[in-house]
Amino acid sequence: MSLSITPAGASLGATIRGIRLAELDAQTFKVIHLAFLQYAVLVFPDQHLTLAQQATFGRRFGEFDPLVQATGSVAISNLRSDGRLRPRDDAMMGILLGNEGWHTDSSYMPVSAKASILSAEIVPTAGGETEWADMRDALETLDAARRAQIGGRAARHSLQYSQARSGHEKPGSYSYGYEDHDAPLRPLIKTHPETGRDALFIGRHAYDVTGLSTAESEALLDDLLSFACQSPRLWSHRWAVGDVALWDNRCVLHRARPYDLDEPRVMHHTRIAGDPVTERGLDTRN
Ligand code: OGA
Ligand code: MN
Repeated sequence: MSLSITPAGASLGATIRGIRLAELDAQTFKVIHLAFLQYAVLVFPDQHLTLAQQATFGRRFGEFDPLVQATGSVAISNLRSDGRLRPRDDAMMGILLGNEGWHTDSSYMPVSAKASILSAEIVPTAGGETEWADMRDALETLDAARRAQIGGRAARHSLQYSQARSGHEKPGSYSYGYEDHDAPLRPLIKTHPETGRDALFIGRHAYDVTGLSTAESEALLDDLLSFACQSPRLWSHRWAVGDVALWDNRCVLHRARPYDLDEPRVMHHTRIAGDPVTERGLDTRN
């Protein structure tokens, strides 16, 4: 079977079949890389990668983000390492539930993420999809008045802010983006460093838009988010064990969908660091 690329039928997303991510040659990687830049989200069904193979695939896109630095991946899972369900007050459960809000990975870190890879080891019988929204199309279809309003403005990004607002705050649980004074400032319009295409750069971690009051800022960001995260910019993936997804955090928002937390869901996440120049906050010191 040879490589096939099937567009998702939205403004982003494609499914790639007929290849083994564990055994990529340079030519096939080139095709995948171009598809990644064009579609921004790629799903590769039925890959069943080992964690080492997933990390090797990830490293083709760049250095690891600090989140996964030591091992190349982290488990996004409601199971503890002993295989038992996490209690609801476990700090990780707050992170998992927080992931159900639209976001882009590591935007609250000094350098926001380039790409993320997620693979499915155990999937619930219903729900637990991952969804993506295209911020390139969102910006391109935004009305002129709104676009003029956001041009030149920036917002702070903080995990403390987003976890508190969604009711999943666990003080002391996050080592980054927790202190207000560390929250990076990021332009609302981001130019993609590889394609040159502009995209909205928002999501649940964003707050305090420059030049606006707290209330105005919250209203603007909520409004942008609800406009942006709509058809035809949405793609939802219902996971099967062994599937792998790859997305471009520089121009895509994503979220997890709810599922019965009494059923196990075990995903493995590899995060690729952004470029220390183009993905650094405007006033980030460290
Ligand atoms: C992530 C994430 C969504 C999901 O891994 O960064 O947001 O569906 N995951 O688990
Ligand atoms: Mn995420």
